[in-house]
Amino acid sequence: MNKILVTGGAGYIGSHTVVELLAAGYEVVILDNFVNSSDKSLEAIRKVSGKNFDFVKGDVRDSVVLDNIFKAHEIDAVIHFAGLKAVGESVQKPLEYYDNNLISTLHLLEAMKKAGVKKFVFSSSATVYGETEVYPFDESFPIGGTTNPYGTTKYMQELMLKDISATSDLQVITLRYFNPVGAHESGEMGEDPQGIPNNLCPFITQVLVGRRDKLSVFGGDYDTKDGTCIRDYIHVVDLAKGHVCALKKFDSGLRLNENGGYFDAINLGTGKGSSVLDMIAAFEKAAGKKLNYEVVDRRAGDIAVCYAKTDKAREELGFVAEKTVEDMAQDSWRWQSTHPKGFNS
Ligand code: NAD
Ligand code: WQD
Repeated sequence: MNKILVTGGAGYIGSHTVVELLAAGYEVVILDNFVNSSDKSLEAIRKVSGKNFDFVKGDVRDSVVLDNIFKAHEIDAVIHFAGLKAVGESVQKPLEYYDNNLISTLHLLEAMKKAGVKKFVFSSSATVYGETEVYPFDESFPIGGTTNPYGTTKYMQELMLKDISATSDLQVITLRYFNPVGAHESGEMGEDPQGIPNNLCPFITQVLVGRRDKLSVFGGDYDTKDGTCIRDYIHVVDLAKGHVCALKKFDSGLRLNENGGYFDAINLGTGKGSSVLDMIAAFEKAAGKKLNYEVVDRRAGDIAVCYAKTDKAREELGFVAEKTVEDMAQDSWRWQSTHPKGFNS
């Protein structure tokens, strides 16, 4: 297996994954419409990897664009990162989220079927587990019960992929990411959210670099060791390597169903939980300065504790996350401090 179509490859996780794919010897075609990224991340991939790749600017919902890519390139597998991902925005704009996230996947699967491409790695999320008070989150848990349209699109896409792979030769590995953070250790690429960051770590680094005044810590009265929420933060480079492991899994003799199809869902996390205050401490250490923060009311929809059971990733993919919370904070800070305005610095 050699040539991989990466949708959303200009984005945060996609760009880091392309670097790892190129390092592992794969050829890459990226399809992205820059709705949440820019061509500067493509330059960064070239610089960091010292390698080139093909790029198509276009929308994954556009079947003509997809057919042309599959005609022009002999694609062996698809990694599908493209999608809208902001939880709060999805509550305000559910139509955009259902349209972008579901239609893109349906059109991509149709184009793959036409071209005879069978292998598909999907970006899912721990959010599909919905609200549960049992942890660590195990792949055998029922999914659903999502609390926002973004999460529901991930849940619906998993259902679609499971149904389609049950009755066709589509082979799917859906990776459920926990909380991706960090940046490439070169400091040349990292997370570059547009507008006010929704997620904790980019908010912390933007306060530390002086772009924002203060972090609001959402809730100090949870039933956890220090009252703040616990999450499973995973370094984006570890996460990227998990995709290379998933591609290798396709070549390792899958237990296919009678139609030649396959479906499996696997968590990508560290299996370790860190509180918001743990993360603040790690970033303060990395930056060598104190963070301005204030504990405020809980954020609606947050659960107290979320971390992954990681046995399946180890057993099925040979994947174990290696980087620590300290690495995550140091690498994020290197990126943010040298690029205060992200790729537009
Ligand atoms: P991102 O926004 O940085 O990257 C997504 C990329 O997809 C962007 O470059 C965007 O321009 C592109 N894109 C979106 N819709 C498109 C379309 N219709 N056609 C072409 N390109 C399109 O997000 P990310 O953090 O890299 O996330 C990648 C994937 O992982 C997403 O599917 C996301 O839902 C999922 N995920 C992310 C997280 C997280 O916290 N970052 C956690 C779990 C799952
Ligand atoms: C982490 C912790 C907040 C911001 C989200 C999505 C999930 C997945 C990953 C895509 C929580 C606290 C945050 C802030 C804070 N994405 N926090 N102040 O909510 O675990 O997961 O991203 O699939 O679907 O829901 O991540 O980074 O928003 O929050 O105190 O300004 O930081 O309350 O405890 P979350 P997050």
